[in-house]
Amino acid sequence: MLRREKSKELFKRAGKVLVQGVSSNLRYWGPEDTPIISRGKGCKIWDADGNEFIDYRLGWGPIILGHADDRIDNAVIESIKNGITFAATTELEIRAAEKIVAMIPGLDILRFTNTGTEATMHALRVARGYTGRERYIKFEGQYHGMHDYAMFSNAGADVGSLGARRHPIPAQSSSGVPQGIRDYVITLPFNDFEIVERTIDDHYGEIAAVFIEPCLGNFAGLEPVDGFLEHLRKLCDEYGVVMIFDEVKTGFRLANGGAREAYGVIPDLSTYAKSLGNGFPVAAFGGKQEIMEVLGMGSVSQGGTYSGNGVAVAAANAVLDILAAEPVLKDLAQRGKRLQNGIDQILTDHDIPHQITGHPNMPGFLITEREVKDYRHVIHHDDEFYDAIMWHLYDNGVWPEIDAREPWFLCEAHDDSIIDETLNRFEDAVKAVKQKHE
Ligand SMILES: Cc1ncc(COP(=O)(O)O)c(C=O)c1O
Repeated sequence: MLRREKSKELFKRAGKVLVQGVSSNLRYWGPEDTPIISRGKGCKIWDADGNEFIDYRLGWGPIILGHADDRIDNAVIESIKNGITFAATTELEIRAAEKIVAMIPGLDILRFTNTGTEATMHALRVARGYTGRERYIKFEGQYHGMHDYAMFSNAGADVGSLGARRHPIPAQSSSGVPQGIRDYVITLPFNDFEIVERTIDDHYGEIAAVFIEPCLGNFAGLEPVDGFLEHLRKLCDEYGVVMIFDEVKTGFRLANGGAREAYGVIPDLSTYAKSLGNGFPVAAFGGKQEIMEVLGMGSVSQGGTYSGNGVAVAAANAVLDILAAEPVLKDLAQRGKRLQNGIDQILTDHDIPHQITGHPNMPGFLITEREVKDYRHVIHHDDEFYDAIMWHLYDNGVWPEIDAREPWFLCEAHDDSIIDETLNRFEDAVKAVKQKHE
């Protein structure tokens, strides 16, 4: 059983000064269980009571090398001695941008921002500015950050609120978003070739962008079926629509070139954050020169006091150097595969119907015997059973997200022995939960 006394005491204090005791709605686990973390190192974290966990949340994705990685931290420490915010371009910023352009296939030019939300917001504005059109398509179960245009049909939406499959309705994910915004957003089921084609055709000349997480970083890492991204690419070319990959989770994680490299499809623009900084807040968006050039010259506005700041670009430079020099993500894929195969085997051995999902560097699984191709299929998933396994793991020092929608994240520090330890505890959890359900 986990010790909780200190965490509870701190959470009481937190509740007096932070709304619900947290700085993000998704961090709130209720008055008894909301965790308080004291530190992290490599693939492990410790909470305020000293409980140790193997971490598969990794801050929801950014930690690609490991917590408190000395190589990144020292680069940041050196850099901040020279000051960090100047309202002007720095050489460090140019170097980081050069490395990104060299690493990402088909990306000509970019701008830095601080968060994924800013990156997706700006990329959408660029697409609108470039095309002179206002509406955009996103896919159900995908999350593009917290700005108003992104708050529809995200993972977490009740499937019943999404409308009929042939005629989807954008389900608002937050109040406080003006009603009128809905008119600019079209939400569609992922992996459905026909409906996206029909929609783009029905709205001829109206669609500025198709915004897509190339695999669903906010729904079990679900991957595109063969040909789906190619189909979108072709439609975007035919109809003059800007194709945007949201690579906030997949960038610098699936492969050095992100989903562009992993799936072999080059969008017009893409957005990055998370792994680019190993936890330091840095983000970027970029793509084709011709499109990005609408920024500036009095046309499309983009800015940010902290964009390209010294902490952000020092971290990015250090991460990019490591990824370029060492096969970090290829090694990660092998260990991710070991984890996926192990989970698959254990669930099979215990006769639990399941679907293994996701790329090995961002895997997931769902408890259902039915094939899962889009977010709507979440209704077949046994949430209760999955969550019970995750709570058991958490109580025993292995911490993936409790909710199956969030994939598991691996970092360089998850070595084979950590994976095997995880699998042992996973099997214990499955046995215990199964016994309880029988
Ligand atoms: C795919 C995707 N896009 C955008 C965002 C928003 O990024 P941020 O939290 O840095 O604003 C997230 C965050 O999880 C994400 O998963």
